Amino acid sequence: MAMEQNNNTSQPHKAMLFALAFLLSLNHASSMYTVYNPIKPRHSRLLKSAVQRETPTSQLSELWAPLEDHGWKPFVESTKPTALPEKSEGYIQVFLDGGLNQQRMGICDAVAVAKILNATLVIPYLEVNPVWRDSSSFSDIFDVDHFIDVLKDDISIVKELPDEYSWSTREYYSIAIRETRIKAAPVHASAHWYLENVLPVLQSYGIAAISPFSHRLSYDNLPMDIQYLRCKVNFQALVFVPHIRTLGDALINRLRYPQQADGEMSPNYIREVTGAGASNAGKFVVLHLRFDKDMAAHSACDFGGGKAEKLALAKYRQVMWQGRVVNSQFTDEELRGQGRCPMTPEEIGLLLAALGFDNSTRVYLASHKVF
Ligand SMILES: *[C@@H]1O[C@H](CO)[C@@H](O)[C@H](O)[C@H]1NC(C)=O
Ligand SMILES: *[C@@H]1O[C@H](CO)[C@@H](O)[C@H](O)[C@H]1NC(C)=O
Repeated sequence: MAMEQNNNTSQPHKAMLFALAFLLSLNHASSMYTVYNPIKPRHSRLLKSAVQRETPTSQLSELWAPLEDHGWKPFVESTKPTALPEKSEGYIQVFLDGGLNQQRMGICDAVAVAKILNATLVIPYLEVNPVWRDSSSFSDIFDVDHFIDVLKDDISIVKELPDEYSWSTREYYSIAIRETRIKAAPVHASAHWYLENVLPVLQSYGIAAISPFSHRLSYDNLPMDIQYLRCKVNFQALVFVPHIRTLGDALINRLRYPQQADGEMSPNYIREVTGAGASNAGKFVVLHLRFDKDMAAHSACDFGGGKAEKLALAKYRQVMWQGRVVNSQFTDEELRGQGRCPMTPEEIGLLLAALGFDNSTRVYLASHKVF
C-alpha cells in the first residue's frame, strides 16, 4: 500500500513529514474537532448509529479483499525504452509549484517535455509553497542518482547547469522579463505547442526555463513513447531517499504489527486494535484528510462553524486566493448539491463506517492542520 505524503508548516523538511503521522482508531476521531469549539456534530443521528453499527462478516471480508485489476496492467513493463537523441537541443529548466503531488506530476511532465524537444533536463527546482512552506529540494526528497540512472537511455539529465549557463537561476527570472523564460505555456499544452514555442528558444539560446510548469502538458494525444516515459518516471525513476524510505517502512511495520511497537504506543491502543480486529490483523486504512483551511476556504462551502468560521474563511479567501475562488458565487446549498464541498472529518468517519470499517480499524491519517 502506498504511503501518503504528509505536510506540516512548522517542519521545513518533507523528510520529517512521516514522523508526524499519528495513529488513531475511529472512536478517537471526535478529538479532531477542536478549531472553533464547541463544534457540534452536524449529523448526530447518523453518527450515533454509525458508532453502534456492526458490520456483517460477509461485508468485512469483502472490505479488505484486493480490488479486481479489470484487465489493467503496468504500462512500463509492456514497452521498451526509447533512444537518446543524437544531439541535445539545449537545456530545459522547470520551476515547480504546488504541493508534493503536483510537483511529482510536474517532474514526470518535465522528463516528457525534455524528450519531446530532445533537450537535456536540469534536475527540477521545487518552489516553496505558501501553504506547506516546505523548503526541501528535489535531492532532499528523491534519490537523484537513481533518477538519472533509470532514465539514462531515455533522456540526458544534469544535476546543475554548466558554468556558461549558471546565470539562469530562479532569482534571475524573478526580477525581470527574460527571453529564455517560457511564461505562457497553456494548461495541458500539446507536444506540438512545445515544438512550436520552446524549441526555437532552445535553438537560439541553448536554454529555456519554463515557469509556471504545473499541469502544462496534455494527458491526451501524446505519442505512446512519451506516455510510457511519464509512467517510467512516476513508477521507476522517482524513489524517496533512503532515510524517508526507512521511516516509511517503520510506520508501515507499526501499522501492520502494533504488538511489536517499541513502547511508544499505549497499551490501551494495542488492546483496542488487537482485540475485536483480530480478523483484520495486518490491515490498515490510509486516509489523506485534506480538510485544511486552504481547502475549506477554496471550496466556499459552509461547515457549520457559524460566524467565526465564515469570517476566518472569507479573510483567507481574500488574502490567499485573492478573488480566484469562482465557487464564491454559489450558495453553500448549491455547492453541496453539486458535491463540491470537501468532506469534514465527521463525514469521512461516517463514510468509513458506512463502508464497513469498525472501531477496531487502524487508520494512518495523513494530514496537515485539520480545519
Ligand atoms: C466498538 O464497537 C462495539 C460495538 O460495535 C462496542 O461494543 C465497543 O464498546 C466499541 N469499542 C470502543 C472502544 O468504543
Ligand atoms: C529528436 O531526435 C530524434 C532522433 O534523433 C529525431 O528523429 C527527432 O526529429 C528529433 N526531434 C527534435 C524536436 O529535434
